[in-house]
Amino acid sequence: MQRSQEAQVKLLVDVRLDGANQLSQFPSSPTLPAPATPPPLNAGPPLLQVRNLRTWFPIKRGVFQRTVGQIKAVDGVSFDVQAGRTLGLVGESGCGKTTVGRTILRLIPATTGSVTFKGDDFFAHRGEDLRHLRRQMQIIFQDPVSSLNPRMTVGNIVGEPLTVHNIAWGSDRVDRVAALLQRVGLDPSYASRYPHEFSGGQRQRIGIARALALSPDFIVCDEPVSALDVSIQSQILNLLDDLQRERKIAFLFIAHNLAVVEHFSDEVAVMYLGRIVEKASRTELYANPKHPYTVALLSAVPEPDPRPKKTRIVLSGEVPSPSKPPTGCPFHPRCPLTREAAKQANAADTVEITTAGERVRVLRKCVEEVPPLEQKQGEPGHVAACWVTR
Ligand SMILES: Nc1ncnc2c1ncn2[C@@H]1O[C@H](COP(=O)(O)OP(=O)(O)O)[C@@H](O)[C@H]1O
Ligand code: SF4
Ligand SMILES: [Mg+2]
Repeated sequence: MQRSQEAQVKLLVDVRLDGANQLSQFPSSPTLPAPATPPPLNAGPPLLQVRNLRTWFPIKRGVFQRTVGQIKAVDGVSFDVQAGRTLGLVGESGCGKTTVGRTILRLIPATTGSVTFKGDDFFAHRGEDLRHLRRQMQIIFQDPVSSLNPRMTVGNIVGEPLTVHNIAWGSDRVDRVAALLQRVGLDPSYASRYPHEFSGGQRQRIGIARALALSPDFIVCDEPVSALDVSIQSQILNLLDDLQRERKIAFLFIAHNLAVVEHFSDEVAVMYLGRIVEKASRTELYANPKHPYTVALLSAVPEPDPRPKKTRIVLSGEVPSPSKPPTGCPFHPRCPLTREAAKQANAADTVEITTAGERVRVLRKCVEEVPPLEQKQGEPGHVAACWVTR
């Protein structure tokens, strides 16, 4: 960055705006020198390391099915998950959360990037080795209705992984399935019934029992409560919480709003258009959000009485398509912060854009240059991708 631009950006973040202005929700933080490399949140080698993960889906057209573009569903995602801990992955629908989870488990091939599990390059494994590693990594799906085979009994659904991995047959399998059902709060006699006989919450318990069958160390929980009634959601979250404590399982916990992960995650990563735009410990992220997208998501989290209510930030426009992401900072067409910052900036450092049918002035830098995910002021390891916030 040139010196004049640096000064400009500093000026912009120093401006404290008030009243109805949305920027008043960006909290100030003490001035701390930013470390060159952010230290990990938790000491010790991580269970799972994801580095520069990209999953692009080709767009094919015509009789010859030529590739005419790419849907960049996941575009350079890196994070660690510690053993027995939870990383919450949050963002609006379509931002790439499910694709991250499925790519890590190799249910979808990665375009580039690496996944290291227990110090081993997971993408390099084949055959029996891969089967063995797969036992340790499971997934709980968002939709408990479509994820369970309607023609299989609950006993076969939960017991299938035990047979596939040559772990238990006959009466041993029956006993193990009964114990798993009991552990997730279901009557062991349900083993002979079919999924359609159960409620949504019970079906999700069946999905959890199946995921637990192979005693995994890591589970991708892909919006496990989004399809459930609010009254059932906390029961399932409590069950997952108890299981994690009891079995020391690490979770990648995917959700589309920050309310669900608030009491569950040790660390939270916020995704927008295939990239992580902010990551911090849960307490730090909720107390000291840096990215305007996180601030907007947080403003939608209801505050329990008697805490003061936040002003809800309604973002203009839809999430852009990952096949044609905006230039520079991908959030710029919807970002309230760049608009406010542009009001204080030199005209030469701003540019007018059309977004959601509206002409607005934003910072030129936000349109032209991709902000790096870098350490911000606050807790070490608190990273965000924004030119304006410090
Ligand atoms: N198999 C696929 N082929 C093409 N595009 C896909 C495929 N799966 C997901 N996508 C696209 O990738 C983007 C991210 O999807 P997804 O990972 O499901 O997001 P999320 O889970 O955050 O809602 C979306 O634009 C979606 O349409
Ligand atoms: S870089 Fe600019 S557009 Fe992106 S979040 Fe920060 S202020 Fe908004
Ligand atoms: Mg999803």
